[in-house]
Order: sequence, then C-alpha cells, then structure tokens
Amino acid sequence: MSHRVPLEQYEFLVDQLALQGYAILPNFMPNDFVFQLAQRAKQIQKTGALRVANVGKHMQLNDAIRSDSTYWLDDNSPNVVEQDYFAIMNTVKSQVNRALYLGLDTLESHFAIYSIGSFYKTHLDQFKTDIYKNDDLRKLSCIIYLNEDWRPDDGGELRFYSDFERGQFVDICPQGGTLVAFLSEQFYHEVLPAKRERISLTGWFKTRANSSL
Ligand code: OGA
Ligand code: MN
Repeated sequence: MSHRVPLEQYEFLVDQLALQGYAILPNFMPNDFVFQLAQRAKQIQKTGALRVANVGKHMQLNDAIRSDSTYWLDDNSPNVVEQDYFAIMNTVKSQVNRALYLGLDTLESHFAIYSIGSFYKTHLDQFKTDIYKNDDLRKLSCIIYLNEDWRPDDGGELRFYSDFERGQFVDICPQGGTLVAFLSEQFYHEVLPAKRERISLTGWFKTRANSSL
C-alpha cells in the first residue's frame, strides 16, 4: 500500500460516498505527488501519445460532446509515478468495497488534457451506446486534478449535478490534489470551457462482467 495518502482521507471518501453517493475532497493527493503526476502527463503530451477523445465515428467535430485529448494508462507500466497512482487507487478500491460492498473490480484510467476552449458537455459516465464497450459496468468514477494554482476566472470547472432533475449543481475548480468521486450511473456532470490548459486523471472502477447487477 502506498503511504502517500493518509488513511483518514480514505475514511472521508467512504463516509461521503455512503452519505450522498459522491465525494469532493480537496487536497486528497499531496502536492509533491500531484506535481509528479502532472509532469508525467506533460511528458506523455510531448511524445505525441495523447489522442483526441472519442467523439463517435459519424459525428462532425461541431457535434462533439467533448474536445479534450486523452492517454489511457496501463497498470503494468514500469513508470513509478503511475505505479504509485495504481497503488493509491487499489487502496480506494479495498476501502470502498469493505465499507459499501460495491463490488469494484478492474480500473481503467486516463490522463485528459483540455487545451484552451476545450469542454465536455453534460453526460453520465455510462453512455449505454456502442461508442464504448461495457460502459454499463462502470460503477465508480474518480477524478483527480493536476493543476497548480487554478483561479476562479480560469474556467474549466466541473459542473457536478447533485440532483439533475431539480437543477442542483456544484461547480468544482480543478485545483491540483482535489479528488471527485461518484457513482458512475447516477450523476450527470460536465466540464465548462477551460481558459487555460487543464489536466485531470480519471479512473473508473468497473464491476465484474456478467455480474447480476
Ligand atoms: C470524464 C469526465 C471530468 C473532468 O472524463 O468522463 O467527466 O473534470 N471528466 O475531467
Ligand atoms: Mn465524465
């Protein structure tokens, strides 16, 4: 288990998830590790390995629901920073499963870089379309922000609908170290256009295929 994140942070996470189905935790990740993850994302960006996010085969760019670029992580990567990320997420998984019996199993994760003006329109993380396979197995979404000194006028907030039908939402600044976690099938959210480059690392825990859920 990684010692980078204090145990009480996982307890805050589990408590908030149990109470409301989502959790917003500023400073979940320590600054030095946020910095290392951001450096890693920028290094990947420099090598040209980021890909324009999937907007669907037959869509015009204008119709795109998102305009960020992503890089999918491999949990066998020899990179130590990525390994530490997976170790932390493994602790998230075991703590959440122990307390909430969500049956979290595998994790898929990507870095996302939003260039200036990029956005991601309102969506659920289970699309139930054929764009992504097996999205209906996504159970818990975990977003970690990697941006230093994000200011209110930088835009790029995560608009998180705590109750979509009633129009209730919170706008969350993508400040480095903040973790936002929520039940993937339940909560609509969108990324407002960013006025400066915006980096996040998102992981989705899936349940086992063919489970009866
Ligand atoms: C996503 C997503 C939000 C964010 O990748 O599905 O909603 O704030 N990301 O990066
Ligand atoms: Mn999403």
